[in-house]
Amino acid sequence: MAIVHMKDIVKRYSSHIVLDNIDLDIAYGEILGLLGPNGAGKTTLIHALAGIHGFDSGAIEVFGKEQKANLLEIKRQIGLVTQEITLFTDLTAKENLAFFGGVYGLKGEKLKKRIDETLEFVGLSEHARKLPAKFSGGMKRRLNIACALVHRPKFLIMDEPTVGIDPQSRNHILETIRQLNQQGTTILYTTHYIEEIQNLASRVVIMDQGHIIANGTIDELVKKIQYEEKIKLEVAAPTDDLLERLRKLDGVKQVLKNEKEIHIISQVESGNLDRVLSIAREFGGIHSISAEKPTLEDVFLTLTGKRLRDGGEEE
Ligand SMILES: Nc1ncnc2c1ncn2[C@@H]1O[C@H](COP(=O)(O)OP(=O)(O)O)[C@@H](O)[C@H]1O
Ligand SMILES: [Mg+2]
Repeated sequence: MAIVHMKDIVKRYSSHIVLDNIDLDIAYGEILGLLGPNGAGKTTLIHALAGIHGFDSGAIEVFGKEQKANLLEIKRQIGLVTQEITLFTDLTAKENLAFFGGVYGLKGEKLKKRIDETLEFVGLSEHARKLPAKFSGGMKRRLNIACALVHRPKFLIMDEPTVGIDPQSRNHILETIRQLNQQGTTILYTTHYIEEIQNLASRVVIMDQGHIIANGTIDELVKKIQYEEKIKLEVAAPTDDLLERLRKLDGVKQVLKNEKEIHIISQVESGNLDRVLSIAREFGGIHSISAEKPTLEDVFLTLTGKRLRDGGEEE
């Protein structure tokens, strides 16, 4: 049975369609990675799902219940880690948790116990009595996550919880997610970091411009584009002229430059390896050329024509 069932969800901001007939099911016990570039509609989808704001049409069921009619009851069993850090800067870590626990009706000894356990879980026990203003970015993120966990939700929604933090905190957060999932929590995780999803998610949904453009396990998604060729070419001088010539080859879908490396994605059996090689020879200075297997990054690229990192860091 599905923990979430979204059907034909439409959300507009004036004339701009931000969610365009979204259908999405989430199964009990899974870690679903929701992947997409900035502006794809990930946060809007999550906020519609968690009942932060409404939607224009369609239907959502959570825990098998119609969402709008059962919103309070549903919210009590959801944890939402927002993309923007939402902490009280003039309250200590512990007081922040006490506030959020209180919102969920926890009090007395039970609240105290939950606060201690949750701080321990996110590795902040030693900082319980400190103000978050003194915390590093990663510690703030972990406290933000703790606030969404203090009531032990069955379903945890995390909106880009690892943006702009140090690798150590990132690993800690990813480990926390794994442990929560092993304890039975269903998790919806949004990110534009493909590596995280590759190691964490049991299933991936890719969103772009308000649409779901792919949905499956990583293996399934990669298989879909196995009928593509990817050629990696390294040259001394990847000039615009060279890139232009490559783009004009029959069957070429994408040509991307990364310093001295050029990636060429073409339709399968286009025979472009030979042609790429002969064009590169004309320009000279070839360091290497190879044909490669597609990755999740290539799936994304092929489906959207964009690299995931584009504009991803400035939020
Ligand atoms: N309150 C709002 N008013 C108008 N447009 C909005 C609002 N919130 C989001 N949008 C627009 O909706 C689109 C999707 O945004 P968002 O859901 O935040 O994407 P993501 O989380 O994938 O980066 C963007 O084009 C954004 O500008
Ligand atoms: Mg967002």
